[in-house]
This record gives sequence, structure tokens and C-alpha cells, in this order.
Amino acid sequence: MSGNVTLKSEMPAVTASGLDNVVAAETALSHVDGEAGRLIVAGYDVEDLVKAYDFEGAAAALWRAAGCEPAPSEGEVREALGRAREAAFGDIPALLSSKRHQTVTEGLRTGLSMLADEPGEDTGERDIPAHIRALGAAAVITAALVRTQAGKSPVAPDPRAGHAEDFLRMLRDEAPSAAEVEALNAYMVTVADHGMNASTFTARVIASTRAGTISAVVGALCALKGPLHGGAPGPVLDMLDEIGTRENIEPWLEREIAGGARLMGFGHRVYRVRDPRADVFNKAVTILTNGNERVRFAREVEVAALKALRAAKPGHRIDTNMEYYTAVLLEALGIPRDAVTSVFAMARIAGWTAHVMEQERVGRLIRPQSRYVGGWPEDEAAA
Ligand code: CMC
Repeated sequence: MSGNVTLKSEMPAVTASGLDNVVAAETALSHVDGEAGRLIVAGYDVEDLVKAYDFEGAAAALWRAAGCEPAPSEGEVREALGRAREAAFGDIPALLSSKRHQTVTEGLRTGLSMLADEPGEDTGERDIPAHIRALGAAAVITAALVRTQAGKSPVAPDPRAGHAEDFLRMLRDEAPSAAEVEALNAYMVTVADHGMNASTFTARVIASTRAGTISAVVGALCALKGPLHGGAPGPVLDMLDEIGTRENIEPWLEREIAGGARLMGFGHRVYRVRDPRADVFNKAVTILTNGNERVRFAREVEVAALKALRAAKPGHRIDTNMEYYTAVLLEALGIPRDAVTSVFAMARIAGWTAHVMEQERVGRLIRPQSRYVGGWPEDEAAA
């Protein structure tokens, strides 16, 4: 076959494209204003959405904004999510028996893919919509995987409890404090949706092929997992541990930046100022921990990192992104770093599934073009 193509010893130059500033969809779900550092979700400034709703209420607001019929209330979502957690717990033994040295996020990927896009009559889940099954399963699977990794048995859900509260209880086998539940709700509401990020775009592409909601969620989780998107908080904590002491902050940062490393928790494709979500988490973690030593240290590292980045990259406006304080907040809630991306997904599934609803309403296959820069058959290349 290679005889009739023009083979070059060097690969052709390709232009790096991250589809910056390309508008890929119209949405009523969220708006990211990167210049002003403002995030609007379901018609609310994100700071107000956190005050108005627990996670169930924010998910219901997103699904209503997506045109979900019948329009769900916060109470209906709470009730259906409880049933979804119960149904998902029944699948945990099968998931655990199939697990092979996976991280929690990889285990969540396996677990979610065990859900059917269209469940059969005999599963008892037919009356729970796919978006709620995915959300309920993510909490149950994440808690069960964290416990199993620690050599403990999974804890069954309490369908009457709030979603954030029940997740913390399933994780620890004891009731969380009201402050912890409030902090996790604040986190989950804040990250529930965020414009056309990589995982949401993935979900919409998959939804546009009519593959189904669960398939879209599994694909979106695969995109979320990478460290340039939702996989940064674990490395943020690794960085804080590695720096270790106040004296080491500046030399460590300078060495890393000079070596070409990216500092996790800083920089954003859209925000050119501080990510407003970082402030919500900063406040929540301060209330939760009373600004303990770890939080003070994280703030010192943040200040030094911003100074070092501004000095090293004068042409770029790099600021703190939400992953930085996500890491500190979820650590304060006792969530192991290996599970942080899964907890992010537990919340973002609300947004992904709302985007699936919007995309399915649009009904048009997403199918962009590429520009060919490769070789041509010899006769055409010579012409
Ligand atoms: N540390 C060091 N340098 C950085 C960083 C960083 N965190 N972020 C950007 N830069 C540099 C980058 O190396 C480049 O420099 P140069 O032009 O000299 O090569 C310049 O700034 C512009 O970078 P870019 O790659 O064009 O920026 P981007 O829009 O592609 O990057 C990003 C966005 C999030 C991928 C990047 O800032 C990054 O890698 N951050 C660290 C990982 C991280 O915190 N990820 C979580 C993102 S927020 C969660 C979410 O919303 O999904």
C-alpha cells in the first residue's frame, strides 16, 4: 500500500488548535465570563446559586433550564435520587468483582458503564430517568470504591437523606457534621456546570449521535479525568506535600517553572482573572477548618505561585483556578486525593446530563471538518 502514497521522512507541520473561542452550541445552562471572572448557572450568579440551593435543587434548576419534561422540583429530584442510590448499591458486588487495580476514577468509569442507556423491564430501574440513575450511581460507586481500597465494606445508602449528606455517610459509615454537609453542597453546586469545557463538549458530541445519556456521561468522565481538566486536584495536594515547608516555597516553585512544569491549580483557557469558584471554595474551607495550618500554607503557596508565574510568563494572564481550593476543601472533608476527580464528576453529571437534554432537543449530529495536511497519491502529488 505504501507504494502509492507520498511518504515524507518528517511529519507535516500541524497547527495546534484547541478550538479557542469557537462557539460550539447555544445553551441556557451556564455562562463563563472569563474577563470579568463571572459564572452564571441556570440564571444565577454561582455565589447566589450556592445560597439558594442544595445540590438536588441546583440539579433540578439545570434540568428545568434544559427543558426537561416534566419539569422536576428539588423535592422530586431528592426522592428519585434516593431510589437511584438504592438501585445502584445492588450493582456494587458485580463492580467490585470486576475491578483490577484501578484508581477510583477508573473504577467509576467501569461502574457507570455498567448502567444501561435503556434498562430492561426486569431491572426495576425503568421508572428512574437515566440522568438521575447516573447521578445516584456515581455517589454510591465512589463511596464504595474508596472504602474497598481502604479494606472496608461498602455502606448501603439511606434513600431519605440528602445526596451530599448520604455520600459522606456512605464514605465514612458515620453521620457527617452539618458544616461538612454544607461545604460539600457548596462544592457540588458550584461545579455542577461550567460552559463548553472539554468533558461537556464530549457529552454533547456523544449525545448528538443519539447514543444515549449513560454513554454520554461515561465519555465525558473519560475527558474529565485528564490533569488539564478535572484531574488537577490530586497533583495540587502532591505539590503542597512536596513543597512541605515555608522556606521551600519559592525555591521549589522557581525550579519547577524553570524546568517547564505546569503548576497544577493555576491557569485557565477562559478565565483571565481569578476563577470565581476558587473564592466560593476558599470561603467554604475557611468555615470548615477555621483556617487551619494546611489552609494557611496553601494560601502562602498560592500567593508565591502567582508571583512566580507572573514573573516567568509576563505575556500571559495566569490566575488561580478552582482546582486549587477544590483540593484543599475536599481534603478537609476527608476525601482521599485519588477520589477527588470522581467527586467532581458526581456533581458535574448534573451539568453533563442537562447538556445531553439540550443537545437531544437540537437533534443535529455534531460533525466538524478537518484540514488535510498529509500526503497525496503520487500521480496527484506530481500534477
Ligand atoms: N503553570 C505554568 N505555566 C502555565 C500554566 C501553569 N499552570 N498554565 C499556563 N501556563 C503557561 C503555558 O506553559 C504557556 O506558556 P508558553 O507560552 O511559554 O508555552 C502559557 O502559559 C499559555 O498556556 P496555554 O497552554 O496556551 O494555556 P491553555 O489555555 O491551554 O491552558 C490549562 C489552560 C488549564 C490547560 C493550563 O493553564 C494548565 O495546564 N494548568 C495546570 C492544570 C490545571 O490546573 N488544570 C485545571 C484546569 S481548571 C478546571 C476546569 O475548568 O476544567
